[in-house]
Amino acid sequence: MVKPEVKVLADGAAVAREAASVWAQAAEEAAAERGVFRAALSGGKTPKALFFILAGKDYAKLPWDKTEFYWGDERYVPPRHDESNFRAADDLLLSRLEIPPARVHPIPTSGADPSRDAQRYEATLRAEIPDLAEGFPRFDLVLMGLGLDGHTASLFPGSAAARERERWAVAARAANLTPPERITLTAPVFNQARHALFLACGKAKAEVVREVLKGDGSPRPEDLPARLISPRAGKLTFLLDKSAAELL
Ligand code: 6PG
Repeated sequence: MVKPEVKVLADGAAVAREAASVWAQAAEEAAAERGVFRAALSGGKTPKALFFILAGKDYAKLPWDKTEFYWGDERYVPPRHDESNFRAADDLLLSRLEIPPARVHPIPTSGADPSRDAQRYEATLRAEIPDLAEGFPRFDLVLMGLGLDGHTASLFPGSAAARERERWAVAARAANLTPPERITLTAPVFNQARHALFLACGKAKAEVVREVLKGDGSPRPEDLPARLISPRAGKLTFLLDKSAAELL
């Protein structure tokens, strides 16, 4: 695991504000240097405050016209379902900024077959992202969440998805989560990102944060998938609130 930059902020709101600042810097740099900013969004609750801030007036001048939106993972539900990661970003960010659909690339959840839809997403990435490194697409920024069991995106401990090193997107299953069926990008894709940004808040996350950042490496990374994320030629940042960092 590349040495992460760890920043501890007062609370969840401060984490969201700092994350917006990291996003802004990555977006401006990518747009200036390459004419496009490709970001993969995380799901769950934590990034919602960030999405809300990014759609606000303080960030109106970002290069939104050069920003392409992707997802690191998705629950296998329709796009307007309450549990959809796409829906959260659409409601809080994309619709408020009126981002045209051509620059929004949601993970397909047709309902027929997660594996086939994962293959479809890989085909979308191959068609849309010419910027490859070591055979994998390069995102400028990937937002990463952290589950209590050490999962990130939908790379769950001990899963085939966590062990996948060839495919870009695969189906995954979280037996103890609702909804269980998922589609996720894989570790080699996340590890070609120019910047992987973890957001973790709340006391409940303190133990897993300690294990991921201070653990002696005993659980194999596949058993603590957040430890799989180590950009090969990029930055790794953890933004934590005080509660999530209290055991560091
Ligand atoms: C998802 C996410 C998942 C999430 C973590 C943390 O689809 O649920 O991608 O990896 O980031 O479970 O979720 P919270 O932010 O809700 O704690």
